[in-house]
This record gives sequence, C-alpha cells and structure tokens, in this order.
Amino acid sequence: MTIAHGPSFPAARPRRLRRADWVRRLARETKLGVDDLIFAVVVHDGPEKEIQVQSMPGAPRLSLDRLAQAGEEAQSLGVPMIAVFPQIDPTLKDRQGGEALNPEGLVPRAVKALKAAAPNVGVMVDIALDPFTDHGHDGVINDAGVVLNDETLDRLVDQALMLAAAGADVVAPSDMMDGRVGAIRAALERALWPDVAIMSYAAKYASAFYGPYRDAIGSSAALKGDKKTYQMDPGNTDEALREAALDIAEGADMLLVKPGMPYLDIVHRVKESFGLPTFAFQVSGEYAMIRAAAQNGWLDEDRAVIESLTAFRRAGADGVISYFALHAARLLGR
Ligand code: PBG
Repeated sequence: MTIAHGPSFPAARPRRLRRADWVRRLARETKLGVDDLIFAVVVHDGPEKEIQVQSMPGAPRLSLDRLAQAGEEAQSLGVPMIAVFPQIDPTLKDRQGGEALNPEGLVPRAVKALKAAAPNVGVMVDIALDPFTDHGHDGVINDAGVVLNDETLDRLVDQALMLAAAGADVVAPSDMMDGRVGAIRAALERALWPDVAIMSYAAKYASAFYGPYRDAIGSSAALKGDKKTYQMDPGNTDEALREAALDIAEGADMLLVKPGMPYLDIVHRVKESFGLPTFAFQVSGEYAMIRAAAQNGWLDEDRAVIESLTAFRRAGADGVISYFALHAARLLGR
C-alpha cells in the first residue's frame, strides 16, 4: 500500500476527520463485524448447565444442552463458527489419550448437538490429545516423558476422522507435531471427507497465556513440565513463516496464530506472506486479563473487547477465535 503524502499544516488538519462520529465512521479503515468472530467455548459432560471456571469468570463450562442454546444464539447473531473444547472426566484419561478416539465421546456428541440446534453455524474442533491424556501433553509420551511425533500422528488422524464422521466442519490441529496437516489431509481424502477443512494452528507458541484454559479443561494439575519441545519459542518470527509454509504445502485451508494480542506481528507477517485466510486466537489468558481488569473497574470491558478484536483485524487477521465472541456480537448488533 502506498501512503498519500498531502500538504502540511495548516492545509492538512487530520483532526477534521475525527471531529464527529459520522466522519470517523466514514474514514475508518478497519471494521469489525460479526462475520469475523468464532466463539470459543468449553463443554463438560455433567447435568450442571454452567460451571464457572475460577480463572475465566464469565466463560463457564457448558453442558451439552446449554451448548445447543449457545449455538442457537450464535446463529441468530450471525456468528459464523463455534470452536468447542472439552473438559473430560479425569477417570477417562489415560497415558495414550484413548478417549480422544471414542465416537460416543463428549466432543462428537457436542458436534452433533450443535449441528442439530444450529445447522447454519460451522463447527470447529481441536485435534490434539491434551484434554484426554493423564499427563496433559498434546501427544503420546514414552517412559522418559518424551512426546513422540509419529506415534502421535496416527492418533490425531483417527481423532480427525472420528470427528469428521460426527459432522465437524473444520478440524484444527493444535498439537504442533510435524507432518500432522499432511497426515490428516491424506486420511480425510481417503475416507471420502474432502469437504472437511483444516485450520492449522500453524504458529502456536509455548505460552503462559494458556493457563486459564488448562484450568478449564482440567489439564493444568496433571501437566508435568512444559510444551517447549513442540510449541514454538516466543522469540521466533521466521520460524512461524516456515511452519505456515509447511502447513500450506501439506494441505491447510486456513491458518491460525496463537496466542493473539502479544503476537500481532506474526499475524501480520503470516497474512502478508501467504494471503490465506488467517485467524488469531484471543486465548484464555487474554480473556482473563481483560475480564479481571474490568471486574476491578480498571477498564471498560465492552470497549476493551471491541478494541482488541478490531486490532486483530487491523493486523491482518480475517477473523478471531474468542471467548468474547457472543458478547462482542451482541455489542456489534446494537
Ligand atoms: C491444546 C490447546 C491449548 C489451547 C487450545 N488447544 C492449550 C495448550 O496448548 O496447552 C489454548 C486455548 C486457550 O488458552 O484459550 N491443544
């Protein structure tokens, strides 16, 4: 983009275009709309309609029937997609994450409940083993605790096929194993699910901002060590482009950068470099920061939500996954 250089002061007075709401709306470069929002939500398998998560006030875990209601609300607000994440009963977790492959499990039932309640809303599911493993890692581990890449791929492929069969529209590998996009794409083609899209977590960083999510899905207590052998180093940028290029070559339809706000430079470079539909994840820790400050009266929540989501768009994101998505859609609809 070239920037027009006009005359200087006083011929140029940029404040002329800021003097009233009507002219600010006319001159605005980036607009946030409901079409840009993906609602992130955690589900549980119990009868309680909502269970509050201490570190995510206002973003409770939902029962499946409450999830269906949220789906209806998303549909009527015009929110295009919902991303569901499960909190799995700890007694069902094991070292291999076997419950991830159960076709009667919580996630496939959540997909079906959403599709029945809100057929016009896309449903996206995470492909990774961490909600299902008793050690909290995204893949299978050996006796030394090493997360095994190729052994994990087999499981991720089965998980993706199972969820495609349940009706998921978009599978989103969030595990950061090498080669997973290609393995999942090939398996989906073989299984005759060519229309299932892959949104790859192309650049996913080993981040402190996932803390509240791990509380919400109940993996933080179990997780030993960290995820630095598979998630990216926060200091790296070129590596994000390499990851994105690999995922595109392997068949990703859409790219995701995560976390969001601390990584807007990555969003920008990924979008500029490849031009694919590129999304950002305003993760649980970002949600918690805004929420906690708002609850203390330290910032205006509604304005902070809209401003933060708009910033993702300005950086180049085509859309944002957020726990605030329904709230933001309500604000935008006013
Ligand atoms: C794990 C996964 C994580 C999130 C989504 N999928 C966390 C992690 O890698 O430990 C984070 C979501 C959030 O923080 O909101 N596969």
